[in-house]
Amino acid sequence: MFNLVFLLAALSLVWGLRLQSNPESAKRGNFLASMGMGFAILATLFFEIKDQSTFNNLIWIAVPIILSASIGTYIAKNVQMTSMPQMVSIFNGLGGLSAVLLSFIELYKASSTNFDMFFSYQITLIMSLFIGSVAFTGSMLAFAKLDGYRWSEKLSLPYQHIINIILLITIISLTYLYFVNSFAFDYILIVLVISLIYGIFFVAPIGGADMPVVISLLNSFTGITAALTGIIFSNNVMLLGGILVGAAGTILTVLMCEAMNRSLLNVLIGGFSASGKSSNKSEDGEIKEISDSDFAVQLFYSSSVIFVPGYGLAVAQAQKICKEIQETLEKNEVEVKYAIHPVAGRMPGHMNVLLAEADVDYSKLIELDEANEKFTSTDVTIVVGANDVVNPDAIDDSSSPLFGMPILKVWESKNVVVLKRSMNPGYAGVQNPLFFKDNSKMYFGDAKDSLQRLSSELKNL
Ligand code: TAP
Repeated sequence: MFNLVFLLAALSLVWGLRLQSNPESAKRGNFLASMGMGFAILATLFFEIKDQSTFNNLIWIAVPIILSASIGTYIAKNVQMTSMPQMVSIFNGLGGLSAVLLSFIELYKASSTNFDMFFSYQITLIMSLFIGSVAFTGSMLAFAKLDGYRWSEKLSLPYQHIINIILLITIISLTYLYFVNSFAFDYILIVLVISLIYGIFFVAPIGGADMPVVISLLNSFTGITAALTGIIFSNNVMLLGGILVGAAGTILTVLMCEAMNRSLLNVLIGGFSASGKSSNKSEDGEIKEISDSDFAVQLFYSSSVIFVPGYGLAVAQAQKICKEIQETLEKNEVEVKYAIHPVAGRMPGHMNVLLAEADVDYSKLIELDEANEKFTSTDVTIVVGANDVVNPDAIDDSSSPLFGMPILKVWESKNVVVLKRSMNPGYAGVQNPLFFKDNSKMYFGDAKDSLQRLSSELKNL
């Protein structure tokens, strides 16, 4: 029976994850995976109860579960959409901390009772202790960086990467000493402290805006520790859940790096976002601005329009007004689509989440390849707070830090209107030649205000 419930839990986790790969089924997937986790907890609780005294101790488990589930639900329900990476970061860090506590207690038992543990078992525990510690302190620092705490950007030391290598060698040496000194627990305590410090130093040199990639990597670390803990406690669901999280986190990290045209090493040692600005060549051409009425008329007489949302849409929280304009245009039989770049914004699926919040139909969202085929037959492309993901230098200029990054070729449409507040660059810190192209016009202002002006103008036509 015990194994049957565990099998059910495992199936729910796998199928739940499968459903999460599509925005339409993601909510059901999330629910199913939570059910799976619930089954696993209940099975562990009830099938592990051996006698009355264990049963009496249930209160020590039930109260924290109820408390933490309530706090988690409250936070998840109230978090601002733009603070989602911070929340993921904290939850992930706590997962790492749980693995640290479990392995720490097991190692303590091993050394204090002097009971004969297999070498492989102890190594697994120490690895879980190390990776969990890195995931914990690393995620907490990632949270602080994303939330804009200034001190969090000042923790990186000179020669940080060399210091990190020395710390790693120290951890390996202490582990060796632990084994040759009859499992002296003091070594484990030092390993724990250094691992916690290593987590901070691992994340410290990385630029704040690279945090989503790092969080995804730390997420995979937590998955690995959970899998290791599953091995330690011979718990198959924990092992499977950990492998799923570890694999999903690793795949997501790789996909994000590919879509940003950066190697993981480049992100980890602090690439262009950390150092601030890279090559910032000045443009010679002139920019042209478009007036409210001209913009509205142009849209009114179009037959196809594509919105390209970017980070500025999230900053301005302009998604609802975007949807309003979409509806106005559709009433006028204009076909409207949204072109979604995989790394537009600052977290995976950022644009999808924003547009879902505004109830934009999923069928209106098109991905990079489809969008690039469609631009040539599009009358107007409206770039709303996107910059790097529409920068032609990614194709034309081999000296650009964006060179090689797959981008949306918006300039291939008949007209492009760019909504932004100034000529400031985007995340990569480089100027965008798109703004100077013959068929491009600028519509300056906060995206929400600009779209509101445009919407009123459209309604007056
Ligand atoms: P960005 O290149 O960062 O450009 C955003 C633009 O929005 C800026 O040029 C800014 O110009 C404008 N903007 C900001 N606030 C605005 C507002 N209130 N109203 C109107 N415009 C506003 O954004 P993107 O094109 O979405 O590209 C994303 C970048 O982030 C890529 O380089 C990507 O590699 C990187 N990145 C993405 C992720 C993920 S997973 N999505 C993770 C880490 C890094 P003004 O200041 O002039 O308004």
